[in-house]
Amino acid sequence: MKTYTTLTLERDGQTAILTFNRPKVLNALNTMVATEGLDAVQTIGNDPAVRVLILTGAGRAFVAGADIAEMENKTPEEARIYSELGHRFMNTLQDLPQPVIAAVNGFCLGGGLEVALACDIRIAAASAQFGLPETILGIIPGWGATQRTARLAGAAKTKEMIFTGRRFSSAEALDMGLINRVVPDGELMDTVRATAALMCRQGQTALRHAKKVINQGLDLSLAEALRLEIDTFVTCFDTDDRREGMRAFVEKRKPKFSGR
Ligand code: CAA
Repeated sequence: MKTYTTLTLERDGQTAILTFNRPKVLNALNTMVATEGLDAVQTIGNDPAVRVLILTGAGRAFVAGADIAEMENKTPEEARIYSELGHRFMNTLQDLPQPVIAAVNGFCLGGGLEVALACDIRIAAASAQFGLPETILGIIPGWGATQRTARLAGAAKTKEMIFTGRRFSSAEALDMGLINRVVPDGELMDTVRATAALMCRQGQTALRHAKKVINQGLDLSLAEALRLEIDTFVTCFDTDDRREGMRAFVEKRKPKFSGR
């Protein structure tokens, strides 16, 4: 796989693992991380051999937010470029054809929570800590948290998080609907890999279509979204994966999907 300065990208069978790798600064997101992260995610998106992407962090953080030392001297114009770069990175992650799992291993703050929220599924270690502490720096979240948090946890919880900046536990994040699951610290990567393995067994085209319908449907009226489901259900019927999946069931064997 490609090599980067601020992250590592590895393959484990049909799964790719992208690790934010600036542990000395708790994987703070500077321009280089965002640029490399965007490139890595685009690379995965163009690689049909990768069925699932896992994101995690090296050391004691998933990501502790945007790099404050780098941001300190930015002009408003530079801040716009930085925010737009972050949004491009998050939108590419959200729209990736493959499922993306965030394995949240430690501090998941500010831009770190924004990365996790752009993933499809979030599984967190019991000791992970979450928060949107931007307002103590005199700014608001700039990589999507005002909107993606509100869509998962509602506007009132999002306002409380942003207005107070307080850190909260995995248990509380689970309770708010921000994450899917909490596991004991030592079991995080095994649980995430096992979840990825379950996804790898399914029809790839079906997962791709399901992700698209769920994501796009959130921006539509219910009637439009249900129409999109019908159209996409029909599209699935013209795929090799659908033919193989149903044939394998009838023949009482495991399906071998081609991703077409
Ligand atoms: N940016 C730059 N450096 C950071 C960083 C960040 N977001 N978070 C941590 N670091 C650095 C620290 O400066 C420190 O470096 P030195 O060893 O050179 O002093 C190193 O990482 C270790 O951090 P601490 O010594 O502070 O570790 P701790 O265990 O005492 O505290 C922490 C951990 C609570 C996460 C604390 O580091 C912290 O509050 N970090 C900032 C979190 C934050 O405010 N994030 C939001 C950023 S703004 C944002 O993300 C905007 C956006 O939406 C895009």
